[in-house]
Amino acid sequence: MTDAQTSIDSQDTAASSSPAIRDAIARRRTFAIISHPDAGKTTLTERILRAGGAIQLAGNVRAKGERRRTRSDWMGIERDRGISVVTSVMTFEYGGCVFNLLDTPGHEDFSEDTYRTLTAVDSAVMVIDAAKGIEDRTRKLFEICRMRDIPIVTFINKMDREAQDPFALLDEISSSLALDTTPATWPIGRAATFAGTYDLRKKIVRPAGLNLEQSDPRMVQLGEDLELVEAALPEFDKESFDAGHLTPVFFGSAMKEIGVTDLLDALVEFGPPPRDQATETRVVKADEPEMTALVFKIQANMDPNHRDRIAFARICSGRLSRGMRLHHTRTGKNFALHTPQFFFARDRQLAEEAFAGDVVGIPNHGTLRIGDTLTENEALRFTGVPHFAPEILRRVRLDDAMKAKKLRQALTELAEEGVVQLFRPMDGAQPIVGVVGTLQLDVLQARLKGEYGVSIGFDSTPFSLARWITGDRAKLEIFAEMNRSSLAEDLDGDPVYLASSNFMMRRTEEMNPDLKFHDIKQIG
Ligand code: G4P
Repeated sequence: MTDAQTSIDSQDTAASSSPAIRDAIARRRTFAIISHPDAGKTTLTERILRAGGAIQLAGNVRAKGERRRTRSDWMGIERDRGISVVTSVMTFEYGGCVFNLLDTPGHEDFSEDTYRTLTAVDSAVMVIDAAKGIEDRTRKLFEICRMRDIPIVTFINKMDREAQDPFALLDEISSSLALDTTPATWPIGRAATFAGTYDLRKKIVRPAGLNLEQSDPRMVQLGEDLELVEAALPEFDKESFDAGHLTPVFFGSAMKEIGVTDLLDALVEFGPPPRDQATETRVVKADEPEMTALVFKIQANMDPNHRDRIAFARICSGRLSRGMRLHHTRTGKNFALHTPQFFFARDRQLAEEAFAGDVVGIPNHGTLRIGDTLTENEALRFTGVPHFAPEILRRVRLDDAMKAKKLRQALTELAEEGVVQLFRPMDGAQPIVGVVGTLQLDVLQARLKGEYGVSIGFDSTPFSLARWITGDRAKLEIFAEMNRSSLAEDLDGDPVYLASSNFMMRRTEEMNPDLKFHDIKQIG
């Protein structure tokens, strides 16, 4: 070991992080892409990784076809359908920063994990199809980002095709999401003539080689548009962006690779570094010397050769090093971190060190749960990995009545892992499972059969919504008495109201003004 290394190492344990660690943390950019299916998330991800010269590009991130299948074939369901149930983290360097792009399962594999992943990022890139504007899934994912005031950068994609007018798109984002917008770039040309972008702050045209005559109709239109932009639209304000109130908007075409580096350059310049994070007792700053981490996702059976569970933990502060001793706040136990891992698509490698903002996988046999905090010493508990109300509810039908006990245990374990949410009706009926994407039902069915030898089917329920209820205890009891057939307990024994429709939900809320009905529940 050199003298320089020794001095960095000894400073790590001092009262404040060494400059080297602080610098490593300040250079982290941990983000996710949120979009509606088909807006171009996969294409943009590919282009971003290419621009960033990804550290290791495992195969290809494309969601379709043979290549995808070879990427992650750890589970029968994935093989059969050519989709991935695994949240992966793609790490690459660009412009002096280390980017962690957390993949959010999007098509059929949309699940509560998609939501939870958004609790582990510092910013999000919202990809919008220039012809379609804001779509349902985008809105839903945006709402989850807003819950935590995550700064949003907007990328309006497919400008190389027939698109809505840029002013109309900005207007739609502002009005339908109640989010201020400021264009960061402006498109040069439209549809088939879309050629590049004009950077409104740096006042330069990209791509660099684009050299259009001032008389070119695209440049004439740009001149006219810019007058309007300057007169009518606000300038970029970093504070509003950091607070999640204002989104800078970029125009581009992922397919034609236009506007992709505009986006990355912006994330380097003002994309937020790892944020401070609240615990039950105090706020943890990312550059504190002590390592802290938060488990936001559990993945079982990632690899048939490794029958283990992986807890995905986001490092919230300090530096993690392999072999360090960790304190597990929920159980009060300590353990040595022997094999932290980095994931890239389905590939994994040992993580010798990692910094706040990074995500590591920690193999374990079920000790770690979603929402758990890991520290070096202090018994902290992070807040902020919630349960999200399921959007699909099904009653579990057991094929072999002899296996009722086994099913109960299996459902509890899988619900603890976060595969599904489990609701036990107060009237004693069969358990109801809740998910946000239908694939999770198939995952549940396959894992019950494969790991517990229990075959199940699903019956429909009269319910389509679940809401956690809080309020005065006596009022809650009266409500429970009167609504027994619509009431259930979740895994923690907390009361949940099941409604057949939005209309019924609103009516119940109106009739019970003393009770609160929540679509999100904090874990912990
Ligand atoms: P997703 O992950 O958000 O679901 O979207 P994905 O990238 O798979 O893109 C959906 C479709 O839109 C793909 O076409 C893709 O090629 C196309 N696309 C993405 N970005 C652009 C763009 O900037 N301009 C244009 N014109 N098209 C774009 P596909 O026909 O469904 O698939 P493929 O045959 O191209 O693979």
